[in-house]
Amino acid sequence: MTPNILLIGATGFIGQHVVPKLAQLNCRISILTRRADRARNFITLPTVELIEADANTDGVLQQAVQNKTAVINLAGILHSRRGWPYGPDFAKVHVELPEKIIAAMRAANVKRLLHVSALGACSEGLSMYSRSKAAGEALIKASGLEWTIFQPSVVFGPEDHFLNVFARLAKYFPVLALAGSNARLQPVYVEDVAQAIVQALDQPHTFRKTFELAGPHIYTLKELVQLSSLAATGSVRPILPLPWSIGKLQALFFECLPGSPLMSRDNVDSLKTDNISGLQGLQSLGITPTALEPIAAQYLAGKHPRSHYDAYRIKHRN
Ligand SMILES: NC(=O)c1ccc[n+]([C@@H]2O[C@H](COP(=O)([O-])OP(=O)(O)OC[C@H]3O[C@@H](n4cnc5c(N)ncnc54)[C@H](OP(=O)(O)O)[C@@H]3O)[C@@H](O)[C@H]2O)c1
Repeated sequence: MTPNILLIGATGFIGQHVVPKLAQLNCRISILTRRADRARNFITLPTVELIEADANTDGVLQQAVQNKTAVINLAGILHSRRGWPYGPDFAKVHVELPEKIIAAMRAANVKRLLHVSALGACSEGLSMYSRSKAAGEALIKASGLEWTIFQPSVVFGPEDHFLNVFARLAKYFPVLALAGSNARLQPVYVEDVAQAIVQALDQPHTFRKTFELAGPHIYTLKELVQLSSLAATGSVRPILPLPWSIGKLQALFFECLPGSPLMSRDNVDSLKTDNISGLQGLQSLGITPTALEPIAAQYLAGKHPRSHYDAYRIKHRN
């Protein structure tokens, strides 16, 4: 039987790499998105169907899961209004949406669910992001479905919202002021994350398991910022380390600016915990983790084949 897959959150950074891999397997792919124009890269793929609707609206998921063999949930956000244990926006996307997906799948007797969470998801985590991701995971683990959860560390790739941000900042500022510069991270390549998801799709040994996805090397945040500035500008920008309290004030300033903040107070809280993995999640799926430097150096310097889309993408985001 041809796999018939529903993707939620596929128009984002990771989804853009998952969809072509699924298409290569001749899967039938339905992409549920609130804005079909974000899925324009996929319209030439013959087996892709776009459903323009909000997954949170009653009845949408019930309809979308009909006759599917699997659901892949990539929906996630980085910022939320504040609240305890997490704000309402995190609650909506990281907890209530998985709950709705589970209910719709059960009603339609669809059993296979692949869900992307985040490394360090923890009900007692220091950030709302981490606590909300943990709450979503708990629902999935209790769902009775054939679930697989992926927990990537910070993800790098030509369209990332991470190294590209530091590269842009380095173009404008001679010194970068930063809280959490000693936080340790283990960035994972977006193609490896996408490959892990696609590979696990029909593999029963991945059912009811959680895979931490991390790259081959651990870096401090400071090292990653310096690496990004070197690639983007040809010189290493000095880092001015900020204490947590000033970092929070800096983030509050960003939150007050229009649009999506460069960094939120919750992002600063996330940096208080190292984001590294002792497990070999990618390797256990037969994937060798890709090193960051050669690839990041290319796209941060604008030499990657996809880099010429950057200005367009930044202009039209959200
Ligand atoms: N990128 C990373 O470094 C990283 C690291 C660890 C974990 N993750 C997790 O991996 C997943 C994918 O990340 P990404 O970087 O690809 O994210 P992204 O580029 O921000 O895209 C996220 C997707 O979520 C969907 N979404 C956002 N708000 C929604 C809402 N209210 N209702 C329904 N859908 C909503 C959007 O779909 P539409 O706008 O099309 O509806 C969007 O395509 C997320 O769960 C994220 O938390 C990412």
